[in-house]
Amino acid sequence: MAPRNQMNIRLLTLADLHQAPIHYNRLPQIIQEHRPQIVALVGDFLNASEDNEKNGLLSEAECAKRLSELDVNHLLFVRGNHEDANWAKFVRAWPLDKRPLTCLYGTAFIYGPLVILGFQCTMGWEGEWARSLPKQGNNLSRNPAETGRKRLGVHVQRWLKPIMRTLGPAARTIWLMHQPPAGLPIAAPIGFNPWFTNFVDRYQPLLTISGHDHNTPHTNGTWHTKVGNTTCVNVGQELKTGYCIVDFEFQSSNISLPKSMTVTAFQWKQSFTIKKCSAQIDKNKVP
Ligand SMILES: [Fe+2]
Repeated sequence: MAPRNQMNIRLLTLADLHQAPIHYNRLPQIIQEHRPQIVALVGDFLNASEDNEKNGLLSEAECAKRLSELDVNHLLFVRGNHEDANWAKFVRAWPLDKRPLTCLYGTAFIYGPLVILGFQCTMGWEGEWARSLPKQGNNLSRNPAETGRKRLGVHVQRWLKPIMRTLGPAARTIWLMHQPPAGLPIAAPIGFNPWFTNFVDRYQPLLTISGHDHNTPHTNGTWHTKVGNTTCVNVGQELKTGYCIVDFEFQSSNISLPKSMTVTAFQWKQSFTIKKCSAQIDKNKVP
C-alpha cells in the first residue's frame, strides 16, 4: 500500500452496529489499526427499540459521544431502517461545535478525486432523519432556518440523475446503500431493495456496499458478488465486528474514477481488486 494522500485514499465502512457495546468498543481499535482517512457508517448504527439499555445496549447519547470522539478526519453517516425517532436523541447529543455531523441522503461526499454516493433507506420512518438534515449539503446545522429536507422515499432518480450529470463517471465509483440490491446471494429476499437494483443495472457503479442482512453472507459463504460491471458487497455482522477497508488509487487529483480499488473484508480475511476502472458504460441503459 502506497502512502495515503489524496491519490491513495483509504475508506473504512461498517454497518449494523446496533448500539452494541461489542462493536462500539472495537471501533477505535479498528481505526487505529487501519488509519483510514474516511469512515462511513452504512446504516443501523442505532437500534430502534425502547429497551436498548435494558438489553445491555448503549444509549443514543453514548453512541453520539463515542462516534464524535473517533480519531478520523471524515466520518460519514448513511441512514438504515433503525435510524428512526431515536435519531433525534443522537442528534441532540452530537457536539456540533466540535465536529460536523455529516449525513449522506441522496447526496455525494467528495474527498479529493473520490466521489462517494449515499443512498436513502426505504424501510422504517425517515421523517426524523429528513427533518434534521440541512436544506443543502451534508453537514447538520442547529439553525432551524437552514434545516429540513424533503423525504426521499423510494424516489432515487430525482436525485441520482442530476448527480450523474454534474459529476460524470466519478459518481459511479462507490455507492453506499444500507439495503442491498435485489436477487443477490449477499442478502435474503426480505432484505433486498428492488429500486436500488434498477439503478445499479442502469448506471453500473463499480462498487456498492450494503448491510442490513447480517446473516445471509455467512450462511451463503458470500460477501461479494457481481451484477454486470458492478461488485456488490455485504460483509454481514456477527459477534466479531464485520467491516470493509477500501483502498482507492487515483492517477489524478481531479474528480475521477480510481485507477484501482482493493476491497478487504474483515473478519473474512479476503480481498479483491478492481483494476483499470473504466468510464465505459452501456449508453443504451442510461436515460
Ligand atoms: Fe437494517
